[in-house]
Amino acid sequence: MRPLIIAANWKMNTTPADAGELAATIAARTEEPTVTRVICPPYVCLAAVRDALVGKNVGVGAQNVHHELAGAYTGEVSASQLNGLATWVILGHSERRRDQFESDALIGKKLARAISSGLRPILCVGELLDERESGRAVEVVATQLRGALAGNDVDALIGGGFVIAYEPVWAIGTGRTASAADAAAMAEAIRAALAADLGWGKAADAVPVLYGGSVTSANIAEFLAEHSIDGGLVGGASLKPDEMAGMVASAAVVAKARAAAEGKPA
Ligand code: 13P
Repeated sequence: MRPLIIAANWKMNTTPADAGELAATIAARTEEPTVTRVICPPYVCLAAVRDALVGKNVGVGAQNVHHELAGAYTGEVSASQLNGLATWVILGHSERRRDQFESDALIGKKLARAISSGLRPILCVGELLDERESGRAVEVVATQLRGALAGNDVDALIGGGFVIAYEPVWAIGTGRTASAADAAAMAEAIRAALAADLGWGKAADAVPVLYGGSVTSANIAEFLAEHSIDGGLVGGASLKPDEMAGMVASAAVVAKARAAAEGKPA
């Protein structure tokens, strides 16, 4: 059974002075053992968030990592520097693809580095609005997957807890979401691409696929009602404890229902 994951992407919000308190409040409001919780603050807030979450069973993630371990890369942060600060990392977010021109090949190198450094990666994929409107969304996402995953070892990725987040670019921060049916169809297309295009076969079934893009406590249940969707990667709403509490509570209901359907304790 795949885990239910609610991952908070705080983007370029919070400061070292306030991030710890926000993380602690969210942790206290979302205590649900059936849901995997992750908070990804800006780099400069990682230590504060890590300290605030000691013993709380909430993962801490970075929002990016460099593919090299050290060297002349001004302004960058390596996996070895994240050691002790983060155990998860978001890779290939569309805002980095757009603003830092990250390519699929570069994201693939970062993925390999994350896995070899023990960072659990959340690989973001998703199409632009015109790509969806012209019927090319699945093709675009499959190309992103092939570009980032070719050359990465499937067993290492699965063993390293590899997660994919489907985030249609036009749904990020816009208040507009994909329909649950479209998001579920994409999650299935993603696993089909892993199984067939990348030759992962049955291993593709083990990969959690999250939906991201204007997720809130009011709409997350629609997405989680789809069996192919295993949680959310949440931006704006993840900065609000009430919203996080609502989203994790919805995920816990679904986790218990899925466990019961499989005849397993949650
Ligand atoms: P919003 O939830 O603010 O739309 O952001 C989604 C996102 O980009 C998460 O990575």
